[in-house]
Amino acid sequence: MFGKRGDTPQPLPQPAAPPQGTPAPAASPTGVQNTVPEAAPGPEPESVSQSRPPPPPPEPPSQPVEDEYDRARSEEYYDVKTTVFNALIDTIDLTQLARLDAEAAREEIRDIVSEIVAIKNVVMSIAEQEELLEDICNDVLGYGPLEPLLARDDIADIMVNGAESTYIEVSGKVEPARIRFADNAQLMNICQRIVSQVGRRVDESSPICDARLIDGSRVNVIAPPLAIDGPSLTIRKFKRDRLTLDQLVNYKSISPEGRDLLGIIGRVRCNTVISGGTGSGKTTLLNCLTGYIESDERIITCEDSAELQLQQPHVVRLETRPPNLEGEGEVTMRDLVKNCLRMRPDRIIVGEVRGPEAFDLLQAMNTGHDGSMGTLHSNSPRECLSRLESMILMGGFSLPSKTIREMIVASIDVIVQASRLRDGTRKITHVTEVLGLEGDVVTLQDIYVYEMQGEDANGGVLGRHRATGIARPRFWDRARYYGEETRLAETLAAAEILDVTGQPLGEEVA
Ligand SMILES: Nc1ncnc2c1ncn2[C@@H]1O[C@H](COP(=O)(O)OP(=O)(O)OP(=O)(O)O)[C@@H](O)[C@H]1O
Ligand SMILES: [Mg+2]
Repeated sequence: MFGKRGDTPQPLPQPAAPPQGTPAPAASPTGVQNTVPEAAPGPEPESVSQSRPPPPPPEPPSQPVEDEYDRARSEEYYDVKTTVFNALIDTIDLTQLARLDAEAAREEIRDIVSEIVAIKNVVMSIAEQEELLEDICNDVLGYGPLEPLLARDDIADIMVNGAESTYIEVSGKVEPARIRFADNAQLMNICQRIVSQVGRRVDESSPICDARLIDGSRVNVIAPPLAIDGPSLTIRKFKRDRLTLDQLVNYKSISPEGRDLLGIIGRVRCNTVISGGTGSGKTTLLNCLTGYIESDERIITCEDSAELQLQQPHVVRLETRPPNLEGEGEVTMRDLVKNCLRMRPDRIIVGEVRGPEAFDLLQAMNTGHDGSMGTLHSNSPRECLSRLESMILMGGFSLPSKTIREMIVASIDVIVQASRLRDGTRKITHVTEVLGLEGDVVTLQDIYVYEMQGEDANGGVLGRHRATGIARPRFWDRARYYGEETRLAETLAAAEILDVTGQPLGEEVA
């Protein structure tokens, strides 16, 4: 059979056959993790992981996946799996298997696993056998226990904290995922397999690594000895159907008028910074805003790990590179942003501003690349400005604070603040303009805000989006230049307005 060791079928090994019907004396649990790489010694593991076709794109599960995978599996199941797995690895020729496409490899494994189950007299229903087969295929061909989580589109983040503990974020809430890895070595193997697909490596000597899955999901690995309890793997799942501003309206993350306002901001080329905490929806919002860029503009994106999904035809995507083992070859965000300026961009989009590239982005915004955008970690528009300032100062630019603030005022038009609230919902909480400098202080003006009003019986946050009553934002002239002023006026007039008491005009203060 193609894929097995040797030319002729060999009898399947029957090591220390367990008494019938009982699980095999556990072949050490490491048997599972040693699977692909160690079963093929020498350079093979590398070739297996690199020549192996990428894992098949996860199919949408045919039944509610929670039912299927949230069930904790018994120790007995893992023992049986270990036995079958070890027998499979002894039987199969991994080098040949790597040459098959994913479907053929799966068929090959299916045949052999069925044979092993029959020979070892493992008592299993057809459904159990299918589950075992799926599990083993995931271990050999894919990302092992992660596969069922990767296949679920309702998961935003997967956080693996060592072999025994995995959490997922679903609908804004973090919860334990009932999967487990055989041990930390298996988990490390999978981490290695993930990062090697983008030509990176992670091990004790270079224990921190950023990577990307084939489907675009963002991955971070931090391995022992830095991660004390075993490799820690964090995956920001890529949404196959990217969220649009209309969907954000459906999720009540923004009101319809807020959506229109953001649309105008995108169209009239305001230089925009999207500010927010971790996982608050910054990148999603940036993606949405880029949807308003005209298709004839040349856009250059700079990211640490390419996440943005721009729809325009004329896009150049750039990605930073970490240093190699000798500490050489690093390409930083700053290098990319500086290089952008020589690439005749109409707009520069920086996935995340974290360091001295802030200076170059501001300069770009200030020198004819209107409509450039970026995201930045911070909890309010005001904090966003001070973070920008400290990034520039920490980058070693010996500029007086006032000069940096002047630069900020001259460059940034709008700050959009995203927040993840305590009930797990994500909201756009501020659309704020940068007005100017008064003395040493940058003046800001909220145009649109989310006002929290309380909590419902289930702990859900109650609140509403409102305009602040500014009829003519600072970017009015810009809107007029692009023929959007009527729409801007209508949008602001249509929105419910907040008065100084925090109540909508005309409403009684409770
Ligand atoms: N308004 C929203 N409503 C519901 N889900 C959202 C919303 N915005 C974003 N999400 C989801 O939340 C997750 C995190 O979003 P996103 O990657 O945009 O956050 P981020 O702020 O860029 O995170 P990080 O700080 O890690 O870069 C994604 O799965 C995304 O689909
Ligand atoms: Mg992001």
